[in-house]
Amino acid sequence: MAEKLIVGMAGFGTVGSSVYQVLKRNAALIHARAGKQIEIKRVVCRKTDKVILQTQGNVVASNDLNSIIDDPSISVVIEVMGGIEPAKTFILNTLKNGKDVITANKALLATHGDEIFTEARKQNRSVFFEASVAGGIPVIKALREGLAGNQISEISGILNGTCNYILSAMHKTPLSFAEALKNAQQLGYAEADPTFDIEGLDTGHKLSILTSLAFGVPFHFDITAVEGIKGISSLDIQFAQKLGFVVKLLATVEKINDRLAYQVAPTLIPQNSILAQVSDAMNAVEIVGDAVGKTLFYGAGAGGEATASAVLADVIDIAKGHKSIVKPDSATVVTFLDNNEKRNKNYIRFNSSSLNDLTNHVLPTLEKHQIVVEKIEEINENLVLLTQEIDEKTLQKALTELSQTYCNQLSFTRFRLAKSVN
Ligand SMILES: NC(=O)c1ccc[n+]([C@@H]2O[C@H](COP(=O)([O-])OP(=O)(O)OC[C@H]3O[C@@H](n4cnc5c(N)ncnc54)[C@H](OP(=O)(O)O)[C@@H]3O)[C@@H](O)[C@H]2O)c1
Repeated sequence: MAEKLIVGMAGFGTVGSSVYQVLKRNAALIHARAGKQIEIKRVVCRKTDKVILQTQGNVVASNDLNSIIDDPSISVVIEVMGGIEPAKTFILNTLKNGKDVITANKALLATHGDEIFTEARKQNRSVFFEASVAGGIPVIKALREGLAGNQISEISGILNGTCNYILSAMHKTPLSFAEALKNAQQLGYAEADPTFDIEGLDTGHKLSILTSLAFGVPFHFDITAVEGIKGISSLDIQFAQKLGFVVKLLATVEKINDRLAYQVAPTLIPQNSILAQVSDAMNAVEIVGDAVGKTLFYGAGAGGEATASAVLADVIDIAKGHKSIVKPDSATVVTFLDNNEKRNKNYIRFNSSSLNDLTNHVLPTLEKHQIVVEKIEEINENLVLLTQEIDEKTLQKALTELSQTYCNQLSFTRFRLAKSVN
């Protein structure tokens, strides 16, 4: 009898239902590539009607997660429920029961990944997670396999389709952030509750997974290093464009003297860079290795079928007997740079076009803190300054001093400039 891989799946929403449909559509080629027939035997979710309808009763649908854990014929479990609980306990119990796990759950991995992988190693089981970062782009496989011989020095990525869609729309037409968000919600690019996306948390989760893989460090999600896109105004987008930049929510991690600078923030990147061309809901990740140099991965970072593509690649890996045991690299001792120590070039906009304000207040204060201004532009009664690289602590001190001293007259908006993107 031909060998079969029996799978259980928790979740049948956007991703889960697409996994089922793509597997059904490409069954023959997936069988050939995996060397085994893949059968989804059980699906667990809360509203099972949809499962019964879409699978025409060909899977056992229930709302009992234990029905997957306790089924001895199931050797692989796909977790596409999302959230922390019950997903975490479900994955841990699945591993304890001797099954391999595939998950798309970046929020869970970023915050509890070490506990999950410790259990996987204890049970000698695998946890695959290609779908957790950049949806359909095989960036986890690239880091784990294609670039495995490299020392990675830097990763920069546009990792959230919702934010990229909103910012792209604000570049195309002078929309406020609220208008662009509303449009994105109407078109299905943003959730009814967009908090996770627009506050940068989703991007931060994905960056922490990439960081762990690339640098062999434990999962490290630092909310203080994450800024979202809520504060971006149409004015700043227009000014950035006039100065030759595009504003993107950029996730960056860089190795500086054995320390990692990890940051998610709205960032001005040069209009002629490749990452600046990544628009609408698309994602891209740039990875720099000592041997390979710069590499760039581009594609759909979300959506049912794109994410199913990544989940099914993991299913095929398991069918072929591949293992995925993530472990911090004990040979590397790497610590994270404190936010205050991070160095950036900056865009600073003051709501004044008065030369008096500039020469009497702004420039002397910046000079006092040894902040070098590279460029000064007056745009629509605002002063925009571009600074040379400066540490965050000094910059914040100077900006605080300015706003405290001249709080009735001056307010400012600040964004980082990208250091080196293609
Ligand atoms: N959507 C994407 O484009 C995308 C891309 C990459 C990664 N991901 C990740 O993939 C995962 C799933 O995302 P999704 O967009 O498919 O979510 P979704 O559409 O909301 O679907 C979630 C599914 O999980 C089920 N579920 C939730 N809580 C449950 C519980 N306590 N017990 C049983 N079933 C439960 C839901 O059941 P009911 O429908 O019955 O309530 C639903 O079938 C998340 O971790 C997400 O971050 C998504």
